[in-house]
Amino acid sequence: MKVLVLYNYSDNEVVEKKDPSEKFVKECAFAVKEVLEDSKHQIKINPLKDNIQSLKSLIELLSNGDFNIVFNLCEGFGWDSSMEHNVAGIFELLKINFTGSNSVTLASCLNKGRTKEVLTFYGIKTPDFQVLSSPSEEIRGTLKPPFIIKPLMEDASIGIRDDSVIYESSLFKSRISSFFEKYKEPALIEEYIDGREFNVAVLGNSQTEVLPISEIDFSGLPKGMNKVCTYESKWYKESIAYQKTPPVCPAKVDQKLEKKIKSVAAKAYRAMGCRDYARIDMRLSVDGTLYVIEVNPNPDLSTDAGFANIARAAGMSYKELISKILNLALIRYNGQS
Ligand SMILES: Nc1ncnc2c1ncn2[C@@H]1O[C@H](COP(=O)(O)OP(=O)(O)O)[C@@H](O)[C@H]1O
Ligand SMILES: [Mg+2]
Repeated sequence: MKVLVLYNYSDNEVVEKKDPSEKFVKECAFAVKEVLEDSKHQIKINPLKDNIQSLKSLIELLSNGDFNIVFNLCEGFGWDSSMEHNVAGIFELLKINFTGSNSVTLASCLNKGRTKEVLTFYGIKTPDFQVLSSPSEEIRGTLKPPFIIKPLMEDASIGIRDDSVIYESSLFKSRISSFFEKYKEPALIEEYIDGREFNVAVLGNSQTEVLPISEIDFSGLPKGMNKVCTYESKWYKESIAYQKTPPVCPAKVDQKLEKKIKSVAAKAYRAMGCRDYARIDMRLSVDGTLYVIEVNPNPDLSTDAGFANIARAAGMSYKELISKILNLALIRYNGQS
C-alpha cells in the first residue's frame, strides 16, 4: 500500500489562544512515518500548509491516484483547529481513503454542545448544560451551580483555567463577561461534576476494543486548586498543575465500574460515529453517576501522549498501535485483507 502521512503546518507563530498541540503535530507525523516505514507499506510524508498553493498541491498529489490511503494527522488548516473537518472534507470530495473519523464526526465533536445533544439523544449521560452566545443571555434556573465555563469549540484545554469553575451564581456575570472579552466565541456552561476523571481509548469500527482505563490523579493538587485539567496542567511541564495531575493507567476501578466505563465509552464512540480510534473523557460523580464530558475523534498520537501511553499499558507498542489504526482504516474501506 502507498500511504501518505499528512499533517498540518504553518509558518506563522502559534498565537497563544490557539491549540499548542499543533506544534507537536510535525513530530508526531515523523514518528508515525518512521514506524510505518518498517512495515510492508510505501510511505511519503507531506505537510499541509495554510495557503492556497499548498492546498492545490495536495489536491494534485491526491488526484494522481498515487496513494491508497492518507494517514490523516491534520488537526486543522494551519493552526486553525476549527478547520480540521474541512481537511477531511477534501479527502471525501476526492474519494481518497483516510484514517480516522469523517468530516461530520470531526465537526460534531469539535462543538461540545452538539456532542452533548447527540449523546443525550442516545441516552448517554452528560452534565446538564447551556450554550451562551452573548454575555447578556440569562442562565436557565434549572441549571445548578457549581458551573464550569468552557469555550464551545476548542480542545486541548484551551480556555480551561482554575477559575473556570464557579461555585456561586453571584460570581457568574463577571466571569462570563471576562470570558467573552477574551475568547470572543460562544460559551458552554456545564454543571461541574466533582469526582474522578477517566480517559478512555477506543479502537475499532463494527467491532470496538476499549483499552485499559486511564485516570487523572488529582490527589496531589494543593488545597484550593480545582480538580480540573487546565491549560496549565496540560502544557506547562514545570507547573504544579502539570506535575500534580499524573495519569494512572490502568486506573484502580472495581470490575463493575470498569464494565460500566467501557460500555459507556463504546456507546459514545458509536453515537458520535467515530472511526478507527478516539478517546472519551468522563467523570464519575460522588453519587456514582458516570458522565461523558467530551468525545475526541482523532486524538493526539504523539509517542508520549495519552493514547499511546494507554496503548502501552495494554501491551501494544507504538508501532503496533499505528499499524493497527492503519489496518482498521484499510479494512473499513477494502474489507478483511
Ligand atoms: N462538567 C465538568 N465537570 C467537571 N470537570 C469538567 C467538566 N467539564 C470539563 N471539566 C474539566 O475540564 C477539562 C477540560 O474539559 P474538556 O471538555 O475535556 O475540554 P478539552 O477539549 O479542552 O479537553 C476536563 O478534562 C475536566 O478536568
Ligand atoms: Mg478533554
